[in-house]
Amino acid sequence: MSERLKITCIGAGYVGGPTMAMIAHRCPSIDVTVVDMNEERIAAWNDADLQNLPVYEPGLDAIVGEARGRNLFFSTDVASALKSADIIFISVNTPTKTYGEGAGEAADLRWIEKCARQIAETIDGPAIIVEKSTVPIRTAAMIKTVLEANGRGDDVDVLSNPEFLAEGTAMADLADPDRVLIGGENPQAIEKLVSVYEHWVPRDRILTTNLWSSELSKLTANAFLAQRVSSINSISALCEETGADVGEVARAIGSDSRIGPKFLQASVGFGGSCFQKDILNLSYLCDYFGLPEVADYWRSVVKMNNWQKHRFAQRIIKNLFNTVADKRIAILGFAFKKDTNDTREAAAIYVCRDLLIEKAHLAIYDPKVSLEQLITDLEYAGITDARERAERGEIVMTSDAYEATEQAHAVALLTEWDEFKDLDYQRVYETMPKPAHFFDGRRLLDLGHLRKIGFTAYSIGSGIQ
Ligand code: UDX
Ligand code: ADP
Repeated sequence: MSERLKITCIGAGYVGGPTMAMIAHRCPSIDVTVVDMNEERIAAWNDADLQNLPVYEPGLDAIVGEARGRNLFFSTDVASALKSADIIFISVNTPTKTYGEGAGEAADLRWIEKCARQIAETIDGPAIIVEKSTVPIRTAAMIKTVLEANGRGDDVDVLSNPEFLAEGTAMADLADPDRVLIGGENPQAIEKLVSVYEHWVPRDRILTTNLWSSELSKLTANAFLAQRVSSINSISALCEETGADVGEVARAIGSDSRIGPKFLQASVGFGGSCFQKDILNLSYLCDYFGLPEVADYWRSVVKMNNWQKHRFAQRIIKNLFNTVADKRIAILGFAFKKDTNDTREAAAIYVCRDLLIEKAHLAIYDPKVSLEQLITDLEYAGITDARERAERGEIVMTSDAYEATEQAHAVALLTEWDEFKDLDYQRVYETMPKPAHFFDGRRLLDLGHLRKIGFTAYSIGSGIQ
């Protein structure tokens, strides 16, 4: 009987967890172990109650429930899992550096390097190392150098296999990807990883390239997607000056097959762990390689996004007669998009920050985000007294939308959760002081309906305000 293939993934986060769950689900003949140094996170992945998994993704609980304990394992024993692995995925965090050279732009690669060192110290046979985390171009060379310097070069291959899943739709994206991208130098190693994906992905959707093209493609894909959002958001501002409607403009331009309809939804701004980080990283690389014009071109996408978030907060303040001090403002949605509990770089953080600087009181409701997470995010964004404000009741997290909107001078809808479509807005209106302001940062609701109820209603990119 042939040995079962063993995969180990370092990092049980938003990428590692769902991706490995899908591999285990689709490949019952492969044993998949996900390791993380964070004990609390691993305990949550092993929780008998699938509602307590650390990552919220529709459909993830069912797949984990089916595969866990059969061929999917979560553990803190990194060394043992590395020792026995044929393929090692690196799926750890690569946030933007906050210190030293490249602070604010370059990717912080210390967790990747630590993984490379751990692997070099632990493994004693051949292995394939797969970069799953988004990394700057040529990171594979760094991993290879660390391995070689520790006598582990010859029988170890490094591949790049960037993840393209979007949060909130991760399970569907993993089950039916537009493409799987694998970059590498050794055709045999590439073929081995191809054979894993071939369990469920048609061969013609598995693209193979050289290492550097693969690494750069991930940054480029995210830069192009983010650029579309910033482009339509820039037009949303012009719509508000001219009486055009950005939804109509998006439909009109998206019908051109050369442009296409996706990623043209004007919003309060893009968030998430990838777009900003990857563009800044791309810009940093361009500067590094002596291409400042290219760097500035991409940087402007982030600049536009920051402006859009700020513009939205300013609109609220302006419409509330230029003062929000001591006024209660309801925030509907805090996650960076619907169907996720992830708040990294969420537009809501920055809108709330701007309002808190103006001394507003915030009542926030999000179906998946905790008060603790909210306070951490606000502190990170510069509201250093967020906890004290929460203790004084100036920042509250409510258990439903009606509780948040009660007695609020304004409602700001910042995440497009489906449940916000079906709220009884007449009821919301009646519990608010008048004039009752509504600010739709996602273009989720029918502006005409809100105005008919009596709200002074604003929606991003909808006519003269
Ligand atoms: C993104 C990429 O889509 C994915 O391929 C990559 O692997 C990781 O980064 P993610 O950040 O999870 O995925 O979500 P995505 O759906 O791309 O949305 C990013 C942000 O842009 C969200 O805040 C979303 O609300 C916003 N957005 C997206 C818009 O404002 N308008 C749009 O039309 C699309
Ligand atoms: P992503 O969105 O890319 O999945 P996350 O921050 O959600 O990022 O997850 C990355 C995980 O990687 C974290 O849970 C972190 O504890 C883990 N991690 C980082 N470095 C190591 C390491 N050297 N060994 C084990 N786990 C690690």
